[in-house]
Amino acid sequence: MEKILLKNLGRPESHTIGSYLGTGGYNGLKEALKHAPESIIQMVKDSGLRGRGGAGFSTGLKWSFIPKDPTVQKYLCCNADEGEPGTYKDRGIMENDPHLLIEGMIIAGFAIGASVSYIYIRGEFVFGTRRLEAAIKEAYEKGFLGNNILGSGFSHDMYIHRGFGAYICGEETALLESIEGYRGQPRKKPPFPALSGLYGKPTVINNVETLSCIPGIIEKGPKWFSSIGPEKSPGPKIFCVSGHVKKPGLYELPLGTTMRELIFSHCGGMLNDGKGVKAVIPGGVSAPMLNAHELDTPMDFDSLAAKGSMLGSGAVIVMDESTCMVKTALIINRFFSHESCGKCTPCRDGTPWLTNILKRIEYGNGRSGDVELLESLCTNIFGRTFCPLGDGAVMALRGALKNFRDEFQYHVDHKKCMVS
Ligand SMILES: Cc1cc2nc3c(=O)[nH]c(=O)nc-3n(C[C@H](O)[C@H](O)[C@H](O)COP(=O)(O)O)c2cc1C
Ligand code: SF4
Repeated sequence: MEKILLKNLGRPESHTIGSYLGTGGYNGLKEALKHAPESIIQMVKDSGLRGRGGAGFSTGLKWSFIPKDPTVQKYLCCNADEGEPGTYKDRGIMENDPHLLIEGMIIAGFAIGASVSYIYIRGEFVFGTRRLEAAIKEAYEKGFLGNNILGSGFSHDMYIHRGFGAYICGEETALLESIEGYRGQPRKKPPFPALSGLYGKPTVINNVETLSCIPGIIEKGPKWFSSIGPEKSPGPKIFCVSGHVKKPGLYELPLGTTMRELIFSHCGGMLNDGKGVKAVIPGGVSAPMLNAHELDTPMDFDSLAAKGSMLGSGAVIVMDESTCMVKTALIINRFFSHESCGKCTPCRDGTPWLTNILKRIEYGNGRSGDVELLESLCTNIFGRTFCPLGDGAVMALRGALKNFRDEFQYHVDHKKCMVS
């Protein structure tokens, strides 16, 4: 597949507007401004693009929920928080090809009638922030941002808002709270941001990779985009691979590529020859892990959901046979417990409780009935939390228990690990 999202990575000065224009940059925006905003929304709908931030919701449909009244202020927010462990795709775009994102955002702003947009970027991404700041300045200088963009009558201003590394601020309503200067905690939905979002105004929140798909869709057409990958999950996807593979990194491939193909044809196979795959987390640590018998699962929204997991952010973590699943579950659960915002009881109290049980199992102090207690706690947390973070903690643990329950029980019974 020809590269679309990562095509400029590795080119000299790829972050500058000169380089971007040299590869046809901003042609998508020029094309978009010739059309009515509604037809841009229709094109994005027709392309079949589904959000790359985790939930896989139709981008065009999301945009179509924004009220059309031109007197109402609307906002666009780009979710560049990228806090899901294992995920580093958005950073790759922002540091190396910031104009791709900026162009996608201006087109999105035009389509929904937003005169202002924010990029909510993870605070630790200092380099990415600098690159974006410089690129926004260049875009203003060339007339792609500001008043009356390219003589179209459409005006748009873009700002960067730095977060401070709280995972929950990637949840779209906590993100809005954070921009407004409040503590980053999720809001009740409804009302949904499309009706009452930033400062109570209609707002679209989209992921960096989602918005970076937009220029190509407008320039090359929705049919071109929808012809890549499976019918219901079309388009390119950046998979960020880490763990026990020879060549971890960013891989742009059509959605629907199997895990086996990704690991063995693209990532050079397993890191340690002779050690096979034990488990793969396909979409960031919230996504339940799959086992070695499920490597032929196509990595797209629907195929992974059918296997009880999810595509999530596309962060693929590969683990070989030497990996202890109790330790893995503990590390993942400790993350969720640490990042719980404390707003609701099942997550605030439940995730540290899970961590404590996992800790004693891992450290050889497991008690008879602990595995059952973990399962019972999962039942009591799942579906009862205010936002999906609590569910994510449970889904990760349930994935490990479903596939490797015997390892947990072995730890409890023998006070030691069966693999190391
Ligand atoms: C705890 C939590 C963290 C999240 N973190 C991110 C994130 O870092 N980046 C992101 O794009 N979406 C994140 N999301 C999903 C967003 O709430 C939202 O669905 C997404 O930004 C929508 O963009 P999309 O439609 O382009 O996928 C997170 C969700 C939850 C519940
Ligand atoms: S599930 Fe509840 S406590 Fe956990 S992050 Fe969401 S709102 Fe906060």
